[in-house]
Amino acid sequence: MNITVFGTGYVGLVTGTCLADVGHDVVCMDVDEAKIDGLKRGEIPIYEPGLESMVLRNVEAGRLNFTTDARQAVEHGTLQFIAVGTPPDEDGSADLKYVLAVAGTIGEFMDGYKVIIDKSTVPVGTADRVTTRIAEVLNERGAMHDFDVCSNPEFLKEGAALEDFTRGARIVVGTDSEKVRECMHECYAPYNRNHEKLMFMDVRAAELTKYAANAMLATKISFMNEISNLAERLGADIEEVRRGIGSDPRIGYHFIYPGCGYGGSCFPKDVQALARTASQVGYDAELLQAVEAVNKRQKVTLFEKLSRAFDGDLAGKTIAVWGLAFKPNTDDMRDAPSRTLMEALWAAGAKVQAYDPEAMKECRRIYGERDDLVLVADNVQAVKGADALVICTEWKEFRTLDGEWLKAQLGFPVVVDGRNLFEPAAMKAAGLMYYAVGRGDSM
Ligand code: UGA
Repeated sequence: MNITVFGTGYVGLVTGTCLADVGHDVVCMDVDEAKIDGLKRGEIPIYEPGLESMVLRNVEAGRLNFTTDARQAVEHGTLQFIAVGTPPDEDGSADLKYVLAVAGTIGEFMDGYKVIIDKSTVPVGTADRVTTRIAEVLNERGAMHDFDVCSNPEFLKEGAALEDFTRGARIVVGTDSEKVRECMHECYAPYNRNHEKLMFMDVRAAELTKYAANAMLATKISFMNEISNLAERLGADIEEVRRGIGSDPRIGYHFIYPGCGYGGSCFPKDVQALARTASQVGYDAELLQAVEAVNKRQKVTLFEKLSRAFDGDLAGKTIAVWGLAFKPNTDDMRDAPSRTLMEALWAAGAKVQAYDPEAMKECRRIYGERDDLVLVADNVQAVKGADALVICTEWKEFRTLDGEWLKAQLGFPVVVDGRNLFEPAAMKAAGLMYYAVGRGDSM
């Protein structure tokens, strides 16, 4: 099939590349010329395991092309995926200006029947707004072309995006058109072989499914973080509690890991946007607001624990930070707990000595050169000459740690572990003051 994808960000690039990989003829369009030029040269703007080689082999095979030419893009695909950004507005609701601009472009150059597919995470009702916008532009042109707009939310996790696309649990499509059903079946057929993954539903249900899925996952995390804070105060070990409740299949083991708060481009933005949508329809979404508030508070706990260990005096101290990305296998630092920590440390007059396997460039891009931020070549260097260590991201390479060696490196034997990577008893035995999340006896 001929497919066009608008937006070469995370979702667009993964979608376009995975669809090209199964033989579709894909054009990815972006208004950012530098990005498109880079992609044409094989430069991938994001870090995602496996993506670079997949892009290169599909470009080589001639199935994946990049352009800034809107007319060419619209004319190419029967399917037109919209995968542009929906940044949060001042009030937390998703800003649809890019989505609606693409709708306008499609209306401007449409030359025959098209299926327009909302892939970006967009508020309930967006498909209707996209339909209206395209119809307006067609009207202005005096053009009479048939089209359908459907919702096909993505469920990709950063760091596992290719796996999620190719072996995802479900492919949700919101539409009331038989023609769209056929097109989407054909589009996804190569990824829909062993059992039926396509779930057709009403457009608004599909749009809400995306938000509901992320809000549910975010709720699980905030719930566990709340219980872990309670566990600390009650002298219980959250890791035992986690296993205890996870064994109930109604609860399950997934996504109940306490930590230093969720980050990334999705959960914080989507929970806020859904709460905002709720208030727009006159509903006070108290649970969603609490999920967000608990998460914000959780991100501050790293600094609070450290500050407590130093009796509130962190001025002049050098703090080693392991992990800057919001989770492993990505260079993404959007809403990362490491940022809340570092900014609080700087405000308290401390210096940060940090290492992350992928996110150092991103960290420099965000914070620039500054005396109180030293980025070092590995995690061993990060603790050299540091007063204490804070672990923000659970990269695999941090998991093997010799407590006694660490104690010898640190000015004060303080470790704040935001990801519960180690056993408190072993850390204590090595002479460290080890503060984890919700592990009562470690406080
Ligand atoms: C999330 C969802 O998991 C995807 O299904 C969804 O498609 C995506 O958002 C999206 O809307 O695009 P992602 O943001 O890449 O994916 O990251 P996750 O792996 O879900 O992690 C989110 C955050 O939750 C991380 O900060 C992670 O550290 C935290 N987390 C996760 C916990 O603190 N505890 C857990 O048990 C699990």
